Amino acid sequence: MNHTGNAPFSEITKPPQRLPVEIAGVSLWQATLAQPEAAITQWQAWLAPEERQRAERVTRPALRHRVVAVRALLRGLLAYELGQEPAISPASLRFQTDTHGRPHLAAPFTNGTIRDFNLSHSGDKLLIGILYSTAPQSWQRIGVDLESLQRSRDTARLAHRVLCAREQHTLEGLEHEERQRRFLHYWVLKEAFSKAVGTGFSLGFDAMDFDIDTASVPCARALPEPHRPDDWTLQFLPLGQPFVAALALGA
Ligand SMILES: CC(C)(COP(=O)(O)OP(=O)(O)OC[C@H]1O[C@@H](n2cnc3c(N)ncnc32)[C@H](O)[C@@H]1OP(=O)(O)O)[C@@H](O)C(=O)NCCC(=O)NCCS
Repeated sequence: MNHTGNAPFSEITKPPQRLPVEIAGVSLWQATLAQPEAAITQWQAWLAPEERQRAERVTRPALRHRVVAVRALLRGLLAYELGQEPAISPASLRFQTDTHGRPHLAAPFTNGTIRDFNLSHSGDKLLIGILYSTAPQSWQRIGVDLESLQRSRDTARLAHRVLCAREQHTLEGLEHEERQRRFLHYWVLKEAFSKAVGTGFSLGFDAMDFDIDTASVPCARALPEPHRPDDWTLQFLPLGQPFVAALALGA
């Protein structure tokens, strides 16, 4: 299903588009956060008071609009995917966040068709992953991460901090651009995994070891305790240049 012309998104909005990724019980969506003013105005009414307050604290209008767009696109998509009979309004959705800030659906939306979701944004791009109740029981959590190759970062310093020794070794001798690209591939896997788990940056990124060199699909060689590599499914996502994105599914 593409949301073009579909409720709850009106024609003035640019709705989320489904990524062509076939994984049982999972859907992945991208959307632009550069939305028409009229959409932003309309979407304010969908937000909970704390979401509206969070947006109001952002002084630059363009950034404030992006904060509104993230939450509205998430609400609209989740409301639609939760089911149409009866239709659920995006404004009626309730969220809770755990101790590390990971958002979850709150009651009465916890036992429905959606088991878990996660999102990531970079610049004007939003990525949302949804894990449905029909997915294998071994997948209780989904994590997604999206990064832009255009953002400048001190790869050498970051690699030292967040990559394990083996991963660092694979960066040696690479040309600047290829090193940046390879580093970001490791980075999005680590972040997607840490976001599925929910601990974010507080998890030791250098205690993770991902194989993107020899395996046709990425896989974990080592993960911080108590996580086991065999419990996790990982995949890079096709968002097109200049983005690098990954998905993690596991317990
Ligand atoms: C999760 C985290 C890695 C995301 O960092 P990022 O690269 O800047 O952001 P991304 O664009 O990939 O993802 C942001 C989205 O992830 C979600 N998110 C926030 N915290 C999360 C967490 N711990 N786990 C999974 N997802 C999280 C949110 O929906 C957020 O979007 P929103 O704030 O617009 O709603 C980072 O915020 C982090 O480490 N958080 C944990 C911090 C912590 O422990 N806080 C404790 C006090 S709240």
